[in-house]
Amino acid sequence: MTEHLTVVQHPLVQHKLTLMRDKDTSTKSFRQLLREISLLLAYEITREMPMTTTRIETPIEPMDAPMIEGKKLALVSILRAGNGLLDGILELIPAARVGFVGLYRDPETLQPVQYYFKVPSELSSRLTIVVDPMLATGNSSVAAIDLIKQAGATNIRFMCLLAAPEGVARMKEAHPDVPIVTAALDSHLNDHGYIVPGLGDAGDRMYGTK
Ligand code: URA
Repeated sequence: MTEHLTVVQHPLVQHKLTLMRDKDTSTKSFRQLLREISLLLAYEITREMPMTTTRIETPIEPMDAPMIEGKKLALVSILRAGNGLLDGILELIPAARVGFVGLYRDPETLQPVQYYFKVPSELSSRLTIVVDPMLATGNSSVAAIDLIKQAGATNIRFMCLLAAPEGVARMKEAHPDVPIVTAALDSHLNDHGYIVPGLGDAGDRMYGTK
């Protein structure tokens, strides 16, 4: 991927995102929509994976058929909201390896605090897709990618549902080598670090915890 930021304008993505933003959308529908959008974003983010061919025999004749090259890709979810995106991508790429980074945002400083880290082996030879629905301040995404790079990953992409300009700028400064794929680039962050107009707290809406 050459672009630092890709906003997926596909009508299905935009329509589903509008339904998710609506405050009256139920937890059940929100989760279902997130799963559906994550399939479409995953389709986009994996578009340029390197290909090779393998020799197979169809019932008619032998052929050199296309296959994705290299090791199974790694998906790394930033807990807990990342898991909503992860579930959908795993339906599309069920053989992917999966890691988790546990970070919470200190409500006072908005800085990320790490409480869990477990990622697949041999990250240096895998495409690594980091998932978190909301790229807000960018603090937790940058911190998660710092850790993932320390674990060996060199080919990283970041997938989110909504991005704020502040988060995109922070990512570009800290990790200019990590392309971002999102469904929308919103206006700004409010004083509490929430994306405006946004969709509220993605974790709470996904899990019904508010
Ligand atoms: N995290 C969320 O869940 N929502 C926001 O708007 C920002 C960060």
